[in-house]
Order: sequence, then structure tokens, then C-alpha cells
Amino acid sequence: MSLTKALLSFLLTKNMYGRIPDSNKNEFNIELINLNFDRSRKTNLVLLGVSLILLLIDVLNKQKGLWMPGSKYLFYTHILMILVPLILLLFFSINIGDNPKHTQKKLFFVMLFAYFLSLDSTLTSIIDQHIHGQITVYIIGAYLIAVMNNFKPLTSLGIFLINYSIFVIGITFVQENPVVLRGHYVNGTLIAVVAWFLSVILYYAKVRDFLSKKTIEYQKGELEKANQQLTATNCKLQESLSALDESQNIIFTLALALESKDPYSHGHSDRVADYALELARSLNLSEVDQVNIYRAAILHDIGKIGIPDAILNKPSALTSEEWSIMKSHPERGGNICSKLNFAREILPIIRHHHERYDGKGYPDGLCGEKIPFLARLVSIADTVDAITSSRPYRSAGTFEQVLEELQKYAGTQFDPVLVEAFIAFYHAKG
Ligand SMILES: [Fe+2]
Repeated sequence: MSLTKALLSFLLTKNMYGRIPDSNKNEFNIELINLNFDRSRKTNLVLLGVSLILLLIDVLNKQKGLWMPGSKYLFYTHILMILVPLILLLFFSINIGDNPKHTQKKLFFVMLFAYFLSLDSTLTSIIDQHIHGQITVYIIGAYLIAVMNNFKPLTSLGIFLINYSIFVIGITFVQENPVVLRGHYVNGTLIAVVAWFLSVILYYAKVRDFLSKKTIEYQKGELEKANQQLTATNCKLQESLSALDESQNIIFTLALALESKDPYSHGHSDRVADYALELARSLNLSEVDQVNIYRAAILHDIGKIGIPDAILNKPSALTSEEWSIMKSHPERGGNICSKLNFAREILPIIRHHHERYDGKGYPDGLCGEKIPFLARLVSIADTVDAITSSRPYRSAGTFEQVLEELQKYAGTQFDPVLVEAFIAFYHAKG
């Protein structure tokens, strides 16, 4: 791309640094006016001070007889440079704060001061043609306006065009040396173009800053929203956990209530849970499996709550009809726990804890690997506690008897791999 095309592209493309959205235009304009007003007011004060010094120098020069042709007109411009800033100071510096009602008044001040500065610097340079032929003040004025204000490109173009037109007309009439005049035409044109170009660059830099600020504000807002949502979700999670604790407590209390129906099964659920958990840990099962095996072991016989006490506590052998009712407890347990969200994972363990490895168990007669792994594990823990607990018809057995029983029925009632694991765990534990 050629330099000309690049320049045209720069000047004509509004989106170069991004575009202010319609919803933010008003805010951006107010920010711009406030910024320009603040800078113009300070510059106005500085100008007043400089003008007073220049006026003093004029008076001293006059007394010394150093006035040249044109010094009189310079003297007048210096008086103007005192009067106008004083008027502006009186009318626009008092009682103007951050009140949005004063925005138009601020804009008026900014435009008035910019045009005054432009006109004054140009007039001074025209008068200077009588004295030393330089255009220094015109240059200072043009760049001061470009740097001091963040005007929109068309606004600054208007100011620089007027400034430039007065400059060209003025020096044409005042400067008599054609060589110097040609130099001023060239330099004056370059100064006007470059000053305007600088003004445009500074304006779009301001646009970019504003958009960056808005982006940060938007992202901060989004972050706060996400944070609030996270807090709300966390609260809900806490509530759910509390509800879960409550439902667990209720069902675990039911398991205790069940044990109170049968004095000989007191503490059975807890002991089965402990055996099952220790075995699970020795097998390096996951945390989730450990939690599930513990819960399932606590609740494995919860279905017995629906079995009549006469059957549950019958001291003699059960009839076939009573036995079939007794054998329904894994299924009943599954049904009771099926309504609990936290127990969904453990329903198969509760239902199948009386399955046998050879398929002769109940309720579904599953065999081998078809029996859920954790149900096979609970089955062993259940047997360990059954043998080592006393019953109305026999006293408590020893762990040696447990090992014999497990080995005897490994492959028929129990998973042989888990039997081996339990024996290894028992010996390791000592
Ligand atoms: Fe059972």
C-alpha cells in the first residue's frame, strides 16, 4: 500500500481504533468536553500570566524608545490577551463544577478559547512581519490547539482552516518580501496540515482509551455477575448438602431403628460397614467406591424393616413361607432407598448382597461377575459379622472359623478372589 493510500485510509477510516457504540456516545462526549474544559481553563490562566509579562516588557521598551513599526499593534494584541482570558476566567471559571447541567457552558468556553487562541496567535504572527518576519507564534498557537484539545477531526479541521485562511490573507498583505512570503506559504501550509494530523491522532487515541476503559468495566461487570452466580450456586449446593445430610441421617436412623427390632443384630450394620470399608481400602478402591460401600453396608438390611417381628425374631427355624418373606428384604431395601438421590449408586449393592457366586442366591440368582463387585464384597463382610456375632441358638464364632467358612465356600457362595483378598488383609492386619 502506498503512503498516500495509507494516509487516506487513516483519515477516512472511522473504525481504525474502534468505534464508540451509540449507547456510549453521550458519555464519551461529556468526558471529552470535561477534559478539554479542564485543559483550556489551565491554559487560559497561563496565557493571562504570560500576557501580563509581555505587556510589562512592551511598557519598558516603550520607555526606552525601543518600539519598532508594528510594536504598537503587538501592544494591542497583548492587551487583548489579557482582557479576553480575564473575561473568560470571570464567566467560565466560577461556579462550574462537575454538574452535568454545565456541559454546554463548558463546551462554549472550550470553543471560544480555541478560536481566540487561534486568532490571536495568527494575528501576532501577521504583526510580527513588520518586526522580524517570523511566524513562530502562529506555529506555537497551532500546536497548542492540537495538543490541548481532543476535538473531533471535523471540528479541528474547521479551526485550522479558519486559522490558516486568516494567516495566508494576513501575511499576503503585510509581508512585502516575496521570497519570505513564499517560504511562509509553504511552512504555514505544512504546519496547518501536520497540526491537524496530530489533532486527529490524539483524538483517536482518546477513543481507544475510552473503549479500553469500557471493555475493562464490561469484563469487571461480567466477572462480578459470574461471581454472584457462583455464590448463589454455592448456597444452593450447601442447601442440597444439608438436605442430603438430613435424608442420610433419616435413613441411617431407620437402620438403627431396624436393629432395635432385633437385639441380636445390634451394631451389625456398623460392623459390616467397618469390615467392608477396611477390605475396600486394602484393595485400593477409589474414594467414591469407599463411600458407596460404607453407605451400602449400613443400609444393606434396611429392607428387614418391612419384615414382621414374628419372623425376624423367630427363635426356631423358619417355614418355607416365612423364609420367602425373609428373602424379600434385599428387594424391599432397594425399593426403600430408590427414592433417595444419594442412594442411587448403592441400590444394586443393597439388592444383590445375598446373591451367591454360583448363582444360587437371591433375589435374582445372578452368578460370578454378573453380581456387582461391591455387592460381592458386602456379602463377605456380612458373613464375617454373622459368624463373629452371637445368636439365640449359638455363641459367637472366632475369626479362624470365619477364614475356614470363607475358604470352604469360595467359588460357590463367595467370590474366590475377594476371599483371598480378605484372608491376605486379615493376616496383614495381624
Ligand atoms: Fe441381608
